[in-house]
Amino acid sequence: MTHAFRSKLLVRIVSIGAAAGLTHAACGDGGSGGAGGSGAGSAEGGAGGDTLTSTSMGMPPYDSQQNPCYDHAALGLTSAVGAGGAGGAPGVVCPSSAEEGDLLWTAIHDEFSGNCGIKLEGMELTQTETQCCYAITVTMCVTTGRPMTVDGAPRSAPVRRGAQSTGWSAGVSPELASLDAATRAHLAALWARDAAGEHASIASFSRFAIELMRFGAPAELVEGAHRAALDEVAHARIAYAFASAYAGTTLSPGAIALPASLPLASELAEMAAGVAEEGCVAETIAAAIVSERAQLAGDAAVREALATIANDEAGHAELAWRTLRWALDAGGEVVRLAVSAAFERAIAAQLASAGCSVQERAEAVEHGAIGASDEKAVARAVVHEVIVPAMRAMGLGDPRVEA
Ligand SMILES: [Fe+2]
Ligand SMILES: [Fe+2]
Repeated sequence: MTHAFRSKLLVRIVSIGAAAGLTHAACGDGGSGGAGGSGAGSAEGGAGGDTLTSTSMGMPPYDSQQNPCYDHAALGLTSAVGAGGAGGAPGVVCPSSAEEGDLLWTAIHDEFSGNCGIKLEGMELTQTETQCCYAITVTMCVTTGRPMTVDGAPRSAPVRRGAQSTGWSAGVSPELASLDAATRAHLAALWARDAAGEHASIASFSRFAIELMRFGAPAELVEGAHRAALDEVAHARIAYAFASAYAGTTLSPGAIALPASLPLASELAEMAAGVAEEGCVAETIAAAIVSERAQLAGDAAVREALATIANDEAGHAELAWRTLRWALDAGGEVVRLAVSAAFERAIAAQLASAGCSVQERAEAVEHGAIGASDEKAVARAVVHEVIVPAMRAMGLGDPRVEA
């Protein structure tokens, strides 16, 4: 595990906590906010789908609505199988539940459930005269970007497949020749998830910059928030490019569903609590996880990209801690209480969600994946070796953290 990365992070962050007022400005450079947390997607989102389904099941992949869709004939459906379904050819009933015998349903569920941090929330059958189609809803456990939330719920853009390029792709060339189709599908899903998270982080930092101004923050913090947003544009381009390379088709973001009136933090304490959760905890952990992924990666293009992202994310984590220092100095006890509670919530949540990428593929580690146990270990180490000492340095005391 990359202990050196965490040690460096600790030194930089603790120096922020120890400094008074704004004198810590020289302790770090650029960046802001957070990463990690969670995003939400849809089936046409980060699942990286058609390669995954078509190669593992040998069937036509997606319909025009981007749902997994299978011809009755290909499924061998000539009589009732399972239950439910509406319409369709006489005597043909598409699998509509995980009941015994519904192997297709089970197979789809297994493909999507837990794949690269994707959590399957629901499946709904739509049967046509010739096909069985399944609308799939998923959420994502962990991302590398600071989440964009509205009323506490994460928002991210659906991933468009095969659409005309809209500039969301940097030139990357991972080595594909040694990868089988299933591993490529796994990697496409992984990188599509990362891409959606990085893309959402742009909006998150944009809002963060406005909130800083709302509470009269110093210039270097506002500047840092804008620089971080630009970092996230670069990260999103990199991640969509990798996802597209592995998927064998262009993957790009659609529109994020956001309200016309975006809510802002109403009090400084509320904003500081968000910074603690999403920046000081989530992004500090995420930076170390990305660094670990870079260390493990064998593919040169992947390793270089992840190392760049890890360094940027560490800068974003530092900005979060600098913001916290300023907010504590400016807001006093009310902010301290709100922040302390936020740290406990966030640490518990991060330790619980780390490693939710349960579908392990050792060969994918060469291309940026990380196993669940490694991800958990990094998260735990960052909490104990970086976040808790940094909290002490800021006079926040020790949070209640499981050993
Ligand atoms: Fe990022
Ligand atoms: Fe970030």
